[in-house]
Amino acid sequence: MKIPKNLNIGVIGTGYVGLVTGICLADKGFNVICVDNNKEKIDKLKNGELPIYEPGLNELLHKNSNRITFTTDLLEAVEKSNIIFLAVGTPSKESGEVDLSYLYQAVDDIGKYINHPTIIVTRSTVPPGTTRKLKDIINKYPNKKFEVVSNPEFLSQNSAIKDFMNPYRIVVGTDSEAAKEIMDFLYKDFDCPKIFTGLENAEMIKYASNAFLATKISYISEISKICDKIGADVFEVVKGMTLDPRIGDKYWRIGIGFGGSCLPKDTLGLYHIAEANDCHPYLLKAVTDVNNYQRTTYFFQKIKSKLGEIKGKNVTVWGLTFKQETDDLRESQAVELIKFLKKEGVETIKICDPLIKDFMKDYFSEYNDDGSIEFYIDPYESVKGSDAIIISNRWSGFSKTDKKRIKELMRDYYVIDGKNILDPKEMKELGFYYEGIGRR
Ligand SMILES: NC(=O)c1ccc[n+]([C@@H]2O[C@H](COP(=O)([O-])OP(=O)(O)OC[C@H]3O[C@@H](n4cnc5c(N)ncnc54)[C@H](O)[C@@H]3O)[C@@H](O)[C@H]2O)c1
Repeated sequence: MKIPKNLNIGVIGTGYVGLVTGICLADKGFNVICVDNNKEKIDKLKNGELPIYEPGLNELLHKNSNRITFTTDLLEAVEKSNIIFLAVGTPSKESGEVDLSYLYQAVDDIGKYINHPTIIVTRSTVPPGTTRKLKDIINKYPNKKFEVVSNPEFLSQNSAIKDFMNPYRIVVGTDSEAAKEIMDFLYKDFDCPKIFTGLENAEMIKYASNAFLATKISYISEISKICDKIGADVFEVVKGMTLDPRIGDKYWRIGIGFGGSCLPKDTLGLYHIAEANDCHPYLLKAVTDVNNYQRTTYFFQKIKSKLGEIKGKNVTVWGLTFKQETDDLRESQAVELIKFLKKEGVETIKICDPLIKDFMKDYFSEYNDDGSIEFYIDPYESVKGSDAIIISNRWSGFSKTDKKRIKELMRDYYVIDGKNILDPKEMKELGFYYEGIGRR
């Protein structure tokens, strides 16, 4: 299989992963064509507007607009591309198993259209064995010249450009020497370890990595609960633990657990992969259970015991998206929190997030017939007349506020800090009734 070295890249799916992949590869000098079957998204992109928010991505898109195009026409993209990245969603089914229907549909369509040697790359997170299966899907169509590669994405939303351009590692799984050579060429300017391995290894590296990160968070969630009960401070505990290099000092996210479109779904996905293979995944189940408990039951009990009667109170929620500096609401801890507050009979819920968009307001419309849910982008405006602030993401704009001014604007002074972004000592000295997670 001969593939030219002046590569043209196709990217299927223009979500968080597809857009970052496409725009960053354009910035590396490749010609890129991005496809989505959502016409609204493509119309926006054609007008130079991003359908998602990711820091720095808009600027990078405009810098490289001469090398990147957007279309809903898959045929055009397949005809023009030497490498096609699959970046469609792989959400959880209701059962928790991975839904591969978007991926299989896209690959079936690609299979019909391939008319020159092409490398098909799964960038989406897929269960081990999936990329190999793509061969069968394409081979239904006669005389197609292609190779398959698993090249999982490891980016985190809100640091995606840095993560793509300066990754900790690039993982390429393939059985094909030709594909390996081309992928090596594609990533020649990336200064990081590159692992060339088998298809299933590459797919498993992605799941094992995400489930490990989730495990780390659930572990420290469990420790933080114990700290709460015994009167220890989890930050002090972590400081002491992480001096041991075997434990390491990164990614101790202490608070109300993890949300977002990846860690919950991939931990659950790996659990189901393990179950299907008769592997009794006790730990993976516990990671999900601990997280669900931490972000709901445990957090809500804390709120109730701190506030006493919740009914009739005005409550401000700082942080709506699952993490700061993204506009992604998928598996956001704030969503369950807001539903809980509503059920408890809160008078007004004032939601504050700098990235509030109309679709988020629409999301809550069924709970907001009476107009009791209000939306703010300014933290000071959001606390006027409130009895309590509940923090559910780590936007630095919240921690940087002038706390004296915040207090002057409030009616009562409860602060329940689900992400431990404020200093308990300072807050208590200022007269707030402050409560973090596992903190003294
Ligand atoms: N979001 C992250 O932080 C992240 C990080 C690493 C890996 N991943 C993985 O990457 C994949 C994509 O995630 P995402 O967050 O970008 O998803 P997303 O939902 O933001 O984007 C997926 C896009 O694919 C499009 N699409 C679906 N079917 C299509 C088809 N047949 N043809 C063309 N377009 C189609 C959708 O319209 C959508 O725009 C998932 O497997 C995810 O697990 C995500």
